[in-house]
Amino acid sequence: MSLPAPLPAYCLRTEFSVNPIGVDTGRPRLSWKLPPQNRTQQRAYRIVAGLSEDPESNPICDTGMQKSARSVSVPWPGPEVAGFTKVFWKVQVWQKGSKTPSPWSATAYFETAPNGAWKGKWISFGKESRNVSPPAPFLRKAFSLSFAPVQARLRIAALGLCDLEINGKRVHPELALIPGWSDFRRRAQTMTFDVTPLLAKGPNMLGCILGDGWYAGHLGFKNQRQIYGGSPSVLICLDIVGPDGKSLSIVSDETWQARTGPIISSDLYHGENYDARLELSKWSVVGSSRRGWQPVKVRRRPHNLLLDAKVSEPVGKVESLPAICVSEPSTGCYVFDLGQNIVGWARIRLRGKRGQTVQLRFAEMLNPDGTLYTANLRSARATDTYTFGENGVCDWEPRFTFHGFRYVELSGCERKPQKSAVTGVVLHNRMRPTGVFTSSDPRINQLASNIRWGLKGNFLEVPTDCPQRDERLGWSGDIQVFAKTASFFYDVDAFLTKWMRDLRDGQTPDGAFPDIAPTFICGFGNAAWADAGVIVPWVVYRRFGNERILEENYEAMVKWMDFQEKTSDGLVRPPTAYGDWLAVDAAIPDFAPVPSDFIGTAYFARTAEIMMRVATVLNKHTDAIRFKKLREAVVRAFRREYVTVNERLVGDCQTAYVLALAFDLLPPASRPRAVERLVEHIRSRNWHLTTGFVGTPLICPVLSRFGRHDVAMKLLLQDTYPSWLFTVKNGATTMWERWNSYTPEKGFGDVAMNSFNHYAYGAVGEWMVHYVAGLAPGAEEPAYRHILFRPQICEGLTSVSASLETPYGLTAIEWESKRRRMEGRLVVPPNAYADFVFPSSGTLRNGKKSESFQGTGKLRLLPGEYRFQLSAMGKRETAS
Ligand code: BGC
Repeated sequence: MSLPAPLPAYCLRTEFSVNPIGVDTGRPRLSWKLPPQNRTQQRAYRIVAGLSEDPESNPICDTGMQKSARSVSVPWPGPEVAGFTKVFWKVQVWQKGSKTPSPWSATAYFETAPNGAWKGKWISFGKESRNVSPPAPFLRKAFSLSFAPVQARLRIAALGLCDLEINGKRVHPELALIPGWSDFRRRAQTMTFDVTPLLAKGPNMLGCILGDGWYAGHLGFKNQRQIYGGSPSVLICLDIVGPDGKSLSIVSDETWQARTGPIISSDLYHGENYDARLELSKWSVVGSSRRGWQPVKVRRRPHNLLLDAKVSEPVGKVESLPAICVSEPSTGCYVFDLGQNIVGWARIRLRGKRGQTVQLRFAEMLNPDGTLYTANLRSARATDTYTFGENGVCDWEPRFTFHGFRYVELSGCERKPQKSAVTGVVLHNRMRPTGVFTSSDPRINQLASNIRWGLKGNFLEVPTDCPQRDERLGWSGDIQVFAKTASFFYDVDAFLTKWMRDLRDGQTPDGAFPDIAPTFICGFGNAAWADAGVIVPWVVYRRFGNERILEENYEAMVKWMDFQEKTSDGLVRPPTAYGDWLAVDAAIPDFAPVPSDFIGTAYFARTAEIMMRVATVLNKHTDAIRFKKLREAVVRAFRREYVTVNERLVGDCQTAYVLALAFDLLPPASRPRAVERLVEHIRSRNWHLTTGFVGTPLICPVLSRFGRHDVAMKLLLQDTYPSWLFTVKNGATTMWERWNSYTPEKGFGDVAMNSFNHYAYGAVGEWMVHYVAGLAPGAEEPAYRHILFRPQICEGLTSVSASLETPYGLTAIEWESKRRRMEGRLVVPPNAYADFVFPSSGTLRNGKKSESFQGTGKLRLLPGEYRFQLSAMGKRETAS
């Protein structure tokens, strides 16, 4: 996969996006990028903002020249912007060494969401059905305009899903499953659309189809529906401005009409059933039939429900995949193979007769006889049906469901369908892809691709464990371990900012974060799961420079620390639920060799350390001292409880040593023994890991950091069970939940829990970029303003490259090695700087300037492109 073209220089962003509307703060943060010229460093900036397209003509804010290097997440410099106001802004910068300012950037804008109470009422169809998914209601309202609008904004909030139409046109044809999922007991997301071009003078019609979605459909693994409420409802407000500046609003209320149509049922887990015979011709166009339409039901405004402008990019139809082949394992059942395990749905183009029904079933894997393997979906039926309305061709895709699948089984056709009859449509939140990793080994490239697809499939509204069975929940432990890797492949800043709200909404009054967010089942306060509440904001701050996520979550983070302190025994955490989940040695999770209280105490120390840093960033110095002391005390407790007099660790297994080393829990003098013991454990397994969700993400980083990169490489290149490449060798196109989700000897793993699209073990991606490619975020500043390049010999690979579009611009490293010599290229983005850590003598060239260096050390690099050569790179320990 290649990166999209770099954003244009100066690419101005407000909050997370370019020219957003519906921004729910009057003090948005501003970011820009400098052009990628050599040595570009900003020493000052000037921002001008105003209410007209030429902000300078009548500015509401002009900062004048501000001496500051800051260009990412710059706090709003003007007075708070009122609701429903469009602000234009531009920036110019002064570079280091230059007295003249740059030309002005192009002008950008943002528009704030109207504040104050929403006009309009919550409306629904109101026919509830407890046990079965009911038909999707169609809602509509006709109105007339005496003018052609100059501006129209459609705002919606929904408890459920909605699909909007105006005058027969879909408002958001590229989006799906909006406005998404939040903890509906507290919060619903709102969205704003610019619909000016869809309206006209004269009669108009506004329509909305509602889906059960996460609100009223099946959710969780207990076969339950209506977790939040009985039937979906929507709040709509269409604000229209006329040529004379006058405005009017069309809102949802009792004057709307509703009826059911061709979507007979829809459910995220079970699929969608569509009967084209029931289609409502031109239902959202004025003048269409009135038959069957009846008044909507107005619902009481849900008590205390917060309405939040959607922070994350919405779910979109991101790409389409054609089938690569079709088979017919049983008569009349055709199986289309997309060649890639994806999340989304299938679009069908088929011929049929009125009344004929075709059925689509979905699966990630095939049974040996070529039929679909669906046992791992548990109760999720994952089945769509389409019934033809007229003789002829259909071109159909569902609206209110999604499936996790590589294979689509089509039945009910009269004759063999063509390969082009089925297309896979990929759905996920429309985050910007940012990182690419490649190497000389195609198997490792496949692994990188599997990690990327694991992310794509599970970043659908919330970061989920898996996308296919009756689960698909925002498990906090999974994203806790995967957040860093995710932040390389995609810009997940907005996505995780939104999810942190879900997590906070689920926090108990005494401070325990939930196992899943939005939460409605499972527990709270479990080690390595609840810790996401501290770790995820820290990762987002470090990778994207988002200081606000620390501010927004600080109170909740402190509460979690208080909870840990209060519920520990002498600062040792009690046993909790999941331990080193799915570790190879674990008969059942609780019996994993490393006790869960060990894991909890290690994470207690780790979160205290992060909190010390967070408090420092936020200038809360007393808190910083508190957490420093707390960390020291927890580390003492850890040593007392889990380190034997012979410096063995309780549990004495890979994960035990990995955690103690990763979180610096051992005195420096004991670390080499611990590393040795860890390597012994790996060697005794013939260079295999035995770790689960907790140990796996940290094992390679620990080995590389403590001088055994050779062993980490051996684990990476291992291709027998259990290993990453074992899954690749067995045809994986996404990450598997278990090391043995499938083995050639035993077939499919434990069917009670066997996903083929679970990103947790993909957490190795972060190490691949940091230690194999040698591109890491530096410690001095967030958002890759400070970068660390650390190329090193990686036994088994002859070339590696990684590139990343950071908030400052593109950074990259690529190298080739031959007989312990290495040649490569580095890119430092504008307004950033890097340390090039060299492991041996060599040269570094930037344009015509070249410098030599000896031995080991580091060089500081300014923005620009560099070529390096390294000779006689030290022969490190070699695993044998
Ligand atoms: C999920 C996991 C999750 C776990 C809790 C499972 O059902 O699929 O990924 O973290 O439960 O241990």
